[in-house]
Amino acid sequence: MISEAELMQLSFPDAPHMLTAVPGPKVQALMAESAKYEAFTRGGGGFPVILEYGKGATVKDADGNLYIDMAAGVAVNAVGRGHPKVLDAIRRQSTLIMHTTDITNPKRIELAKKISGIMPEGLRGDCHTSFFQAGSDAVETAIKFARRHTGRTQILAFHGAYHGVWCGTTALTTGYNYRHGWGPLIAGVQHLPYAYCYRCPFNMTYPSCDVQCGKYVDHVLNTPYTAADDVAAVIVESQQGEGGYVAPPPEFFQLIREACDKYGCLYVADEVQSGAGRTGKMWCIEHYGVKPDMVTWGKGMGGDIPMAGLTYRADIEKSLVEGSQPSTFAGNALACEVCMTNIDIITDPEADLLGRATALGEEIKGRFLDAMSHVKCIGDVRGRGLMIGVEVVADRKTKEPLGPAKCGEIALKLLNRGVIMTPCGRYGNVFRFMPPLTVPREYAIKATDILIDILREY
Ligand SMILES: Cc1ncc(COP(=O)(O)O)c(C=O)c1O
Repeated sequence: MISEAELMQLSFPDAPHMLTAVPGPKVQALMAESAKYEAFTRGGGGFPVILEYGKGATVKDADGNLYIDMAAGVAVNAVGRGHPKVLDAIRRQSTLIMHTTDITNPKRIELAKKISGIMPEGLRGDCHTSFFQAGSDAVETAIKFARRHTGRTQILAFHGAYHGVWCGTTALTTGYNYRHGWGPLIAGVQHLPYAYCYRCPFNMTYPSCDVQCGKYVDHVLNTPYTAADDVAAVIVESQQGEGGYVAPPPEFFQLIREACDKYGCLYVADEVQSGAGRTGKMWCIEHYGVKPDMVTWGKGMGGDIPMAGLTYRADIEKSLVEGSQPSTFAGNALACEVCMTNIDIITDPEADLLGRATALGEEIKGRFLDAMSHVKCIGDVRGRGLMIGVEVVADRKTKEPLGPAKCGEIALKLLNRGVIMTPCGRYGNVFRFMPPLTVPREYAIKATDILIDILREY
């Protein structure tokens, strides 16, 4: 396993180190400039940090404040920022060729082959990949390919889902802000309850619930009069991301797979956030032994250079039409070379970043679980590997979420103590750990203890 000393070399030393209150004067000036010229629909809204330098699991803002990065650009910098091997790949490839349009290039062919070798069972060695720049592009295309392959139109998705906010994906995504006022959204999407055990929509408890949420998918797909009579695909995040870092029990995805098989529709695993080693396996669905028909991926696969894709069963290719889904920037040779480098770093058996993510994730969760004895606002601690959610509540008995003002206050206190963490969840009350897989243990534990210390006040 890679040593802590080697990992520390990849990040700035002595983090966190704060020079100003957040936001500092330079960040404030940049935010004012951004407000004048950029669209304020951008992600992050008023997030008071503007990054100027990044190294490994640490970042500096424009005022020189040095943070421990528990957000990794929303699970994007899986190998950390500016990894030396990634910088080498950029230097190497940028002198050869970068943009080649969708007519492919040797690096892209090599990457498609590599992706085929690392896909979950069911796709591994027998799949094709369509390349894109963003996860949303991959999900948009999954909808189209599933429709074309099955000759059907409807899609089932889940409560709490986030699959992107383009014209197709917005209909799958459930957040009010993302949907309201943008209609009409694409027709034929039904949402079902996700296995959110902490807030079970059936008010039951696992395992005595017998995983009713999973069984409900079979009910909707395979009983008359549910209006799910033309379903092309079920799309589901293997661990819910924006919806609150929700990790379902093992049977949930197995039941969905069985329901899809019985009905004859496709199972699309959205691994945009949970993939690229984040949960301690290359793909989160591998924890469940379920074989998807399609996988959408992005974020951590590209890291510092945008890259995303849709990988699907090879036989689906027969239903598609040559040249019918072009994308100008897709499979840029530089992005492909970087993606292959990221895969090599993540899957390197000697460094064992995956095993390390599992062990470190358990240690972090253990610290929060121990803290529950004296920090009364911690309601739930969940997740796998370095995809951990801490859900905070005003009242542990009623599970009333801690309100938005207090959650915002906590996020700001974290920043002022040098920890970048972006909350998520249906109520915005889930503090999530999604650091680079290369985060030094010392930094991960420091960030954990800072959050626990802040939560003590609530
Ligand atoms: C599970 C999931 N799918 C799709 C997307 C959309 O990806 P992008 O923002 O790269 O378009 C996201 C983004 O957060 C995501 O978490």
